[in-house]
Amino acid sequence: MRLCRSSMECSWKTLLLLVCTSLGVQYTAIRSLRDSFGGPCQDSAHCQGHQGKEQRLKNLCDDIRVPAETNAARKHILLFAQTRSGSSFTGQLFNQHPAIFYVFEPLYHVQQAFTNSSSRLQRTLDGRALLGAYRDLLLNLYNCDFNFLESYIRPEPQDHMTGAFFRRSSSHALCTPPVCLEGSDEILGGQPDEAWCPKKCQALNLTLASQACQAQNHVAIKTVRIPEVGDLRTLSEDPRLDLRIVHLVRDPRAILASRMTAFAGKFRAWKIWNATGRQPRYVDLTPITRTCRDIEYSVETGLQNPMWLRGRYLLVRYEDLAVNPEEKAKEIYRFLGMDLHQRVLTWIANNTNGAAPSSSDWNYKYSTKRDSKATAQSWRVHLNFDIVKTVQSLCNRTLALLGYKLFHSIDELRNVTKSLMEPRT
Ligand SMILES: *[C@@H]1O[C@H](CO)[C@@H](O)[C@H](O)[C@H]1NC(C)=O
Ligand SMILES: *[C@@H]1O[C@H](CO)[C@@H](O)[C@H](O)[C@H]1NC(C)=O
Ligand SMILES: *[C@@H]1O[C@H](CO)[C@@H](O)[C@H](O)[C@H]1NC(C)=O
Ligand SMILES: *[C@@H]1O[C@H](CO)[C@@H](O)[C@H](O)[C@H]1NC(C)=O
Ligand SMILES: *[C@@H]1O[C@H](CO)[C@@H](O)[C@H](O)[C@H]1NC(C)=O
Ligand SMILES: *[C@@H]1O[C@H](CO)[C@@H](O)[C@H](O)[C@H]1NC(C)=O
Repeated sequence: MRLCRSSMECSWKTLLLLVCTSLGVQYTAIRSLRDSFGGPCQDSAHCQGHQGKEQRLKNLCDDIRVPAETNAARKHILLFAQTRSGSSFTGQLFNQHPAIFYVFEPLYHVQQAFTNSSSRLQRTLDGRALLGAYRDLLLNLYNCDFNFLESYIRPEPQDHMTGAFFRRSSSHALCTPPVCLEGSDEILGGQPDEAWCPKKCQALNLTLASQACQAQNHVAIKTVRIPEVGDLRTLSEDPRLDLRIVHLVRDPRAILASRMTAFAGKFRAWKIWNATGRQPRYVDLTPITRTCRDIEYSVETGLQNPMWLRGRYLLVRYEDLAVNPEEKAKEIYRFLGMDLHQRVLTWIANNTNGAAPSSSDWNYKYSTKRDSKATAQSWRVHLNFDIVKTVQSLCNRTLALLGYKLFHSIDELRNVTKSLMEPRT
């Protein structure tokens, strides 16, 4: 009750902070806190203006209620994918779950820190050479030590505070109480975090983020920076973790088309190829070839079902998820041994039912709000057939392994009523 004596503290935000810091606590505790709030507030003129908000807050409280069984054991979830394979979209299935502390591409900071150092170091370090640092960071983040990131973030955080956390707003937990106390109206209004979080949330307090993470039931991390699932073996075997790898794959022809659109500058030669149907001599085929090889090796490892991966690996084709998101989400949560929360289902319903991306979308390149069914196939009308043929020959084993059909004519390619995939389980 003492909390409500001063007018500022009586604000509903304080309550939200209280409620949300006690997320790890049982619902009953949250409920009694909420119930005990009513009395003193009604006496105060200041608080009366907040009645409407309190009602909405009540709804929010119901929203963040966590079923008891998910409290059982802490899961360490890794969304393991390649660049432009639908991982932002898939990550939302975790980001929207109130019991999961979701972090979007934290390994970016490691990569940046090494890429910007001396050129000699750069030459000796490729993706694989960074693996040790990547694994260290993952282990520390799974243990909620966000301060571990401080040695990588540039400019260097001061007093554990940083304004340079990569894509902070893609992590709901870093935009909401107790980490950020702003944006309650926007959250309650159903606005995506990306639309307001960068503007309203102050510099990120990494110590506070660590505490908020510790109070959360589960941690999920998305990464496109680890080449192969085999690189995760030491983490998978680590007795301190209960690692669950969700391996997201996508048709490499679609990955390529998506990269050409998202990174137009880097793909100038490919754009020329796409526009003319003639392959420029200086086109670099290495990245897509490597992507296919990494997918192939990882899937082979996963399907061999080695001891260290047993019960810890789930292969998900993005195209299946796009066509049937609700069913796939259920399958993913079954694999995690967790309940699928209503908020995840609401997000799916709001973002996959033909909701075309609006022009006001904050950053369309990374936007996850779109018609997933249509986008999963759109490469078939946006990619020159000559490129398609080349990728089909470079990646033939990957395509065969994952059950993606080859197209032998341009008519077949463009006719999107013809299925792209063989059914796989
Ligand atoms: C790396 O260097 C570039 C160019 O000097 C700079 O724009 C960028 O902010 C640096 N990145 C980091 C993480 O320091
Ligand atoms: C989902 O869509 C409905 C109707 O457009 C909207 O009222 C609601 O706020 C949305 N919910 C979320 C979580 O985006
Ligand atoms: C960051 O959060 C910690 C833990 O809540 C707190 O002790 C510290 O004062 C905060 N730092 C700043 C600069 O606000
Ligand atoms: C390839 O070219 C076609 C036709 O010129 C265009 O519609 C499409 O957007 C291009 N695709 C990409 C990925 O740039
Ligand atoms: C892939 O192409 C190579 C070389 O053209 C061929 O030897 C191999 O049999 C093909 N593999 C599959 C699975 O189609
Ligand atoms: C597209 O494929 C469907 C199913 O295979 C077929 O029935 C239809 O005739 C095709 N359309 C064209 C224009 O080729």
